[in-house]
Amino acid sequence: MKDSKTIRKEFIEFFEAKNHKVVKSAPVIPINDPTLLFTNAGMNQFKDIFLGKKKPEYPRAVDSQKCIRAGGKHNDLEEVGRDGYHHTFFEMLGNWSFADYYKKEAIQWAWELLTEVWKLPKEKLFATVHESDEEAYNIWKEVTDIDHSHIEYHGDKDNFWEMGTTGPCGPCSEIHYDRGENTCHMKDVEGHKCAVNGECHRYIEIWNLVFMQFYREEDRSLSPLKDQYVDTGAGFERICQILQNKNSNYDTDLFVPIIEKIAEISGVAYHQDERGVSHRVIADHIRALSFALADGGMPSNEGRGYVLRRILRRAARHGRLLNMKKTFLQDLVDVIVDVMGDHFVELKEKKAHIKLIIKAEEERFNTTLDKGLD
Ligand code: SER
Repeated sequence: MKDSKTIRKEFIEFFEAKNHKVVKSAPVIPINDPTLLFTNAGMNQFKDIFLGKKKPEYPRAVDSQKCIRAGGKHNDLEEVGRDGYHHTFFEMLGNWSFADYYKKEAIQWAWELLTEVWKLPKEKLFATVHESDEEAYNIWKEVTDIDHSHIEYHGDKDNFWEMGTTGPCGPCSEIHYDRGENTCHMKDVEGHKCAVNGECHRYIEIWNLVFMQFYREEDRSLSPLKDQYVDTGAGFERICQILQNKNSNYDTDLFVPIIEKIAEISGVAYHQDERGVSHRVIADHIRALSFALADGGMPSNEGRGYVLRRILRRAARHGRLLNMKKTFLQDLVDVIVDVMGDHFVELKEKKAHIKLIIKAEEERFNTTLDKGLD
């Protein structure tokens, strides 16, 4: 089985070989951007380049960006634990063109990596394009050997990407993976039909290629940007799920060690079905907390600090559902450092700090809970 470290490395090396500069992930706590609670996409750190306010130091870049989607426009908090592929914290693999290449190369290279390097079966891949983007539709036909019936037009909801209520944006082309009929959780629902961007979990989006060309103004109108850019984001945990032949991100080597540790300290075995929701929520939330604290976030009563406090309390409450009454969250941090600390060295450097803050915050919450319960 290909491990997650190898998968991340292969993505980066693929684009490095195509003259992309390898850049570091920006912190999950955004620097100087009050429009954002957390870094929610790879493009955040390049926003000023898209806006023409900053000259890029290189025309192409590749990275793995740490993202948190737990508040603001992109918020996946409620989904977490119920399915196997939404997270508060996740990594987004991205390749970038700053007024250099555009739709053709972005599509061609994504296809090449997925089908030639990673050898994903072509019949399981689907591409969507924005309903106005005939150009992207034709490029898929011309530069790849995707089954033409697997190219679909979709509307703004799925194929127009925006960072927030204002900011750089543009039409996008998404790549979805068909995980097979038996991954549909709605088989028994009358009239249900599995579909890309449909209601069941059979097809999952794995990569979004955004063609940045507009700025969304306060009054909702769109102004053209000076140049055109490519911003792609591939969900790292989802890619790992597929390449490791699993049905859930939580069954990949990114999560299994954390879930095993939760099972060990709680004494409650993990199950991949409904019974595993609490294990999954805790495993997800502890990753978000560890990264946010490593990057300077702090639980508090307002703004992003409040979101962090809520995430921690949610994890602690799920701990209670697994019969854990004492603090336990800090004991999971070592596992996260083992799994991710080689690539994200800040986790190693800040380990003691992360554990200290988590423990203090959890203790305080436990006292409140106990009082309430009494
Ligand atoms: N900005 C796009 C996204 O977040 C692609 O990176 O999905």
